[in-house]
Amino acid sequence: MKQLFFSLFFLSAALSLSANQPQSHAQSQRILILDFQSQYSQLIARRVRELGAYCELHPCSMSADAIRVFAPQGIILSGGPDSTLSVTQDVYNMGCPVLGICYGMQLMAKDLGGAVQAKDAEFGHTQLHIKPSQLFASIETEQLPVWMSHNDQVTQLPDGFEAIAHTDTCPHAAMANSERTLYGLQFHPEVTNTQHGMQMLKNFVIGICNIEPLWQTADIIEESITSIREQIGTDHVLLAVSGGVDSSVVAALLHRAIGDQLHCVFVDNGLLRFDEHKAIDALKNKLGIDVRCVDASEQFLTALQRVTEPEQKRKIIGHQFIAVFEKEAQKIPNVKWLGQGTIYPDIIESAVGGATIKSHHNVGGLPEKMQLKLIEPIKSLFKDEVRKVGVALGLSHEIVYRHPFPGPGLAIRVLGEITPDALHALRQADAIFLEELRTHDLYDSVAQAFAVFLPVKSVGVKGDIRHYGNVIALRAVNTTDFMTANWADLSHEFLTRVANRIINEVSCISRVTYDISSKPPATIEWE
Ligand code: XMP
Repeated sequence: MKQLFFSLFFLSAALSLSANQPQSHAQSQRILILDFQSQYSQLIARRVRELGAYCELHPCSMSADAIRVFAPQGIILSGGPDSTLSVTQDVYNMGCPVLGICYGMQLMAKDLGGAVQAKDAEFGHTQLHIKPSQLFASIETEQLPVWMSHNDQVTQLPDGFEAIAHTDTCPHAAMANSERTLYGLQFHPEVTNTQHGMQMLKNFVIGICNIEPLWQTADIIEESITSIREQIGTDHVLLAVSGGVDSSVVAALLHRAIGDQLHCVFVDNGLLRFDEHKAIDALKNKLGIDVRCVDASEQFLTALQRVTEPEQKRKIIGHQFIAVFEKEAQKIPNVKWLGQGTIYPDIIESAVGGATIKSHHNVGGLPEKMQLKLIEPIKSLFKDEVRKVGVALGLSHEIVYRHPFPGPGLAIRVLGEITPDALHALRQADAIFLEELRTHDLYDSVAQAFAVFLPVKSVGVKGDIRHYGNVIALRAVNTTDFMTANWADLSHEFLTRVANRIINEVSCISRVTYDISSKPPATIEWE
């Protein structure tokens, strides 16, 4: 996702630093979500943020001491598929309300003396009947559809709890011990299929945990600016911008906070798409940020000559970036910090340990080698929050909603050996595809789209003459998290138009294919 190459460069360092970052007022009122590896854990976090409350997602193995240090005003136990996972028993005695969702509710019931059994599984929409409870405040109806996904259920409530909802087959579809402010929901309030699910979360976060909804875009910006100023003082910061949303938002934030102490570099590594510098021009012209463009294309392309193996390509590109940054940093006096566009999913993807982080993107080592400290102003934000901040800071829709582009760039989209001819053809084909997507108002409806150059030759006919040319594959996917993805069902008419244009306008191409593989098992990029 995004310019992962830059943002994951320093992930391990980022993780170790995160505890030391200053905490804002809006962040001091916080919800802790303990993750039992539900597919919806991140969604719970996003919903809580949408309510204006700051929250963090941590593994369910978080120790009691760490929870105390975190000082949550409320705790949510997520759902999860693995019934062997547990949580510290102290979690119920932290003096703050706890809400268990799905497996989280079952665990709470078991931990506090109730019973859970495999019984009457429910999957999908189910009718729920609710009783009056603070958790259901402002919900006018007594019966509502909710989203269930469970094999086990609570068969006996712990002492002090009452059932506050039931379905036809689940007598304890929600439970409450209002005195101890402990609650459980067998269904998923975080998914939109649950009617009034957001109201239930609001009742818990705002009503029961008493969080003031301070986590709003304008506050995020103001608070980040204050904390950047505190952190940086009179030092200078080097930031590599790529034209993608994350590094652009970091540039805009740092520029507002420290003005001329920020030094942006844009590295042309010879592996960029057609007209890539336009995004940088926008940053310069619209926000008045000075961006130094470094043409390092020859250096990168020479180092990549005859290299065909994808991981080796990534390593070489990583080393070349390091060499360029080192050189640039030496030119600027007083540079002590390296700006970084890490966002929250980058951190939790690796911290939770469930999904595989794209460790191959992380070449590591730069901050120590360059003796720079890291500043990561958007590392507690989700992508949609980053986008809101970008809009509020005056970045254009085009930058804010750009598809992600990998750090190694076209190097991993020219399969096999990278030649100037292949790069040229790929740039042309890619530009045609993206232009057509924009013209047909399809660009924003897919998460990522691009062309890939295949080093195979195939026979075609161009102008009545046999043409033995290369192949371009088109790839367009839909995804929200980039960890899984489906190929985008673009119309035949649209694909025909793009293919015709590519074959007619890109001289060395004789054939165009459309990639209909999903992730997994295929990855989004071809290399
Ligand atoms: P994959 O190919 O792993 O891609 O399904 C998932 C997302 O990550 C991007 N990607 C990369 N980004 N450096 C990056 O900065 C890389 O080496 C890299 N490989 C993949 C990819 O474009 C997609 O958005």
